[in-house]
Amino acid sequence: MAAPKILIPFYSRTGTIEALAKAVAEGAAAEGAEVRLRRARELVGPDVIASVPGWKESADAMNARYAAPTPEDAVWADGVIFGTPTRFGSVASELKAYIDGLGGLWAQGKLNGKAGSAFAASSQPHGGNESTVISLWNPLAHLGFIIVPTGYADGVMFAGAGSPYGASVISGHPPAGPTEAELAVARFQGKRVTQVAKKLIAA
Ligand SMILES: Cc1cc2nc3c(=O)[nH]c(=O)nc-3n(C[C@H](O)[C@H](O)[C@H](O)COP(=O)(O)O)c2cc1C
Repeated sequence: MAAPKILIPFYSRTGTIEALAKAVAEGAAAEGAEVRLRRARELVGPDVIASVPGWKESADAMNARYAAPTPEDAVWADGVIFGTPTRFGSVASELKAYIDGLGGLWAQGKLNGKAGSAFAASSQPHGGNESTVISLWNPLAHLGFIIVPTGYADGVMFAGAGSPYGASVISGHPPAGPTEAELAVARFQGKRVTQVAKKLIAA
């Protein structure tokens, strides 16, 4: 069987979701996947980005590392794992703009039957990670994805460092980055989506 293809489109402003995305990619690659990591671009104005020291430098550095996601990437993929920081309890507009650009593929049914999954970060322990992941399930359903949660399907899920909906980070403020336990859940999510994608390809 050809290697399953996994797309990880994410938005990250200060590197937390980038770190989680890399761990998801590691888990997918260890399961035999070919992986594309893609960063959605800024939507807020330069005044907003300039209002917090370090935001511009962080965004510029990530943009140098990752291409922006395209609709062709989604067509290419057998599974898509979306990553976003929590924005007032929901998905970041930058990632949502990428999803909203998939309308042409929706109209053609091109994403039907692919594996889809989501992960998130928040600064606060009760800041909305779970609602953010679930908010991504709404467009995934409309687009025809087979939604893949993390569940309690592996021992790493019992360390209290992710939810059964998807990997998540409580980054603190300023963001301190994922813990090893949070990264382990992300690796598992990449592995699990790849396993499901393989089964969907075989079916
Ligand atoms: C406009 C805005 C809204 C946010 N909303 C929330 C929120 O509702 N709950 C929360 O805990 N953190 C919130 N945060 C914090 C980020 O979700 C958090 O710092 C995240 O880890 C950043 O990920 P990144 O480092 O990948 O950019 C918000 C940040 C911004 C800029």
